[in-house]
Amino acid sequence: MKILVTGGTGYIGSHTVVELIEAGHEPVIVDNLSNSKESVLDGIYGITGRKVPFYNVDCTDLEAFGSVFEAEPGIKAIIHFAASKAVGESVKEPLKYYRNNLTGIINVLECMKRYGASSLVFSSSCTVYGQPEELPVTEEAPIQPALSPYGNTKQICEEIIRDTVSSCNTLHAVMLRYFNPIGAHESALIGELPLGVPQNLIPYVTQTAAGIRECLTVFGNDYDTPDGSCIRDYINVTDLAKAHIKAVERMESGKQKQNVEVFNIGTGVGTSVFEIIKTFEDVTGVKLNYKVGPRREGDIEKVWADASYANNELGWKAEKDMRETLASAWKWQTTL
Ligand code: UFG
Repeated sequence: MKILVTGGTGYIGSHTVVELIEAGHEPVIVDNLSNSKESVLDGIYGITGRKVPFYNVDCTDLEAFGSVFEAEPGIKAIIHFAASKAVGESVKEPLKYYRNNLTGIINVLECMKRYGASSLVFSSSCTVYGQPEELPVTEEAPIQPALSPYGNTKQICEEIIRDTVSSCNTLHAVMLRYFNPIGAHESALIGELPLGVPQNLIPYVTQTAAGIRECLTVFGNDYDTPDGSCIRDYINVTDLAKAHIKAVERMESGKQKQNVEVFNIGTGVGTSVFEIIKTFEDVTGVKLNYKVGPRREGDIEKVWADASYANNELGWKAEKDMRETLASAWKWQTTL
């Protein structure tokens, strides 16, 4: 199946392109390279032996984005990753986030209608749950007021998708609420390429271990958790990528129960920051220089997924464990 992947040279996008090819699909990439490099295509080629059609196009530009559909007739599905994703930056530059993320999804839906693509997979986030009252968190948990413009764009995009799909009976969507994606492809030919100082834990850990950063700061050790540090559900990026293939195939084979479905994509296991540090040191044999600092504003104390709906309905399950995933993140770092 011909599938358009927006943000296909990005972190999750590139891993998904690899999995699409390995599942026999024909991905086409659209990316404006605002947070990735064209050389990612070489990594994809190195893993799959396939040269994927690539369009350096910003999907907020409706005319340019539409021209990709003209050049690539027969696109059936879109996996939409292209979006701005830094929580802190979104607080400083909210208009950038509302413009990029909302215009992006509007143009994707507009082009789906215009060019007859029927299935959409949307990258949502567990951020929509805020601090859930009950853990593990299910898809039925209430959506909480967003803590950042970034989080708000995910909630608004979900609403835009629901309204558009219910107004048009040819459209279908699956919204995947990701927990924390980490790690890299086992080949270490693709992985995460954070620009500047990493904001996320794992790239900060690997850069500190590599000597690029002097010291990792653990943001708070006084949370109401067993060791005092925050807990997240860290999901291997290749496992996460595979959920997108399941989602597209579910829509195209008519197995959806509703025209819009939501799935949590996580492991179901919560891991603290201190546990990450300890496991990383253990797996790599590298001692990590770290200190405890104050809490980071806006951090959720603890969240992990109830992924049973994805396990049972989507036929998807996280397979890789934390040790293997941290080893892959380290292997990738050492190639940079
Ligand atoms: N952390 C540190 N030190 C660091 C970086 C992070 O202690 O240098 C801690 C954070 O406090 C948090 C955990 O590591 O407890 C994970 O932090 P990340 O920044 O890696 O991830 P977040 O859970 O904060 O954010 C992620 C995504 C967001 C998304 C959010 C909620 O990056 O896009 O999950 O879904 F919005």
